[in-house]
Amino acid sequence: MKVDSPIGIIDSGAGGLTVVKEMLHRLPQEPIIYIGDTARCPYGPRPAEEVKNFTKEMVSKLSDMGIKMLIIACNTATAVALEEIRSQFSFPVVGVIVPGARAAVQASNLGNIAVLGTAGTINSGAYEDAIRDISTNSTIHPLACPDFVPVVESGQYHSEYASEVVKRTLLPLADVSFDAAILGCTHYPLLQEHIAKHLPEGVRIISSAVETIRDVEGILHEKKLARQSDQPVEPVFYSTGGADAFRLIVQDWLTIEEPDVRHIML
Ligand code: DGL
Repeated sequence: MKVDSPIGIIDSGAGGLTVVKEMLHRLPQEPIIYIGDTARCPYGPRPAEEVKNFTKEMVSKLSDMGIKMLIIACNTATAVALEEIRSQFSFPVVGVIVPGARAAVQASNLGNIAVLGTAGTINSGAYEDAIRDISTNSTIHPLACPDFVPVVESGQYHSEYASEVVKRTLLPLADVSFDAAILGCTHYPLLQEHIAKHLPEGVRIISSAVETIRDVEGILHEKKLARQSDQPVEPVFYSTGGADAFRLIVQDWLTIEEPDVRHIML
């Protein structure tokens, strides 16, 4: 593995762009190859075995492209595939669940933490396990939000419709006491303006992207894989579905005017 090799980032679709955004902010000199499996998104309602297989397909492609490190920027895939991917590939692999859990435990004074995620992530119990590993006296309130990802992937995340979907989905938390909420799906930061509006005032909203990139920085230095240059590099984006819809989200969310977005077959 060479220091100038790219870092691979994967997600079921556009959600991992929230992690790319933080990468571009903190580590703009690191080359990125991103794969969004938009043709098969959402992963949330799919059986764990299927998500695992799809994840392996993306990672194999990136491995062939010679990446030096992998970020699984998808909670659903992290929940079911992280350990297996780690055991099968020689490059370092970072997931998004442990960093998010750590940030939430630090942010919560009450120890009462809501976890918003896909059905797959919530059913896996991965956040409960990660939080309990860090703090035994936390109370966790998990909530599956299956309607969020389609709103993001269809590009409607700034709309009034998105606000209504968020409001309706968060109703089960109305009578629950918590002071931190984890956005346990990388698509959800694109809905953060609505989520903040429909959660009780004062609740700290945690996106794991920031914490994840802190981990990435640490590993790059520890393994001597950090690129020795200040020159920023434009990321390359691959989408298994239509490149045009994906390009619009990249342009809006990452404010890159002419992003390099390509179609890829897995
Ligand atoms: N963005 C992904 C996650 O963090 C997957 C969402 C989905 O495809 O359902 O869980």
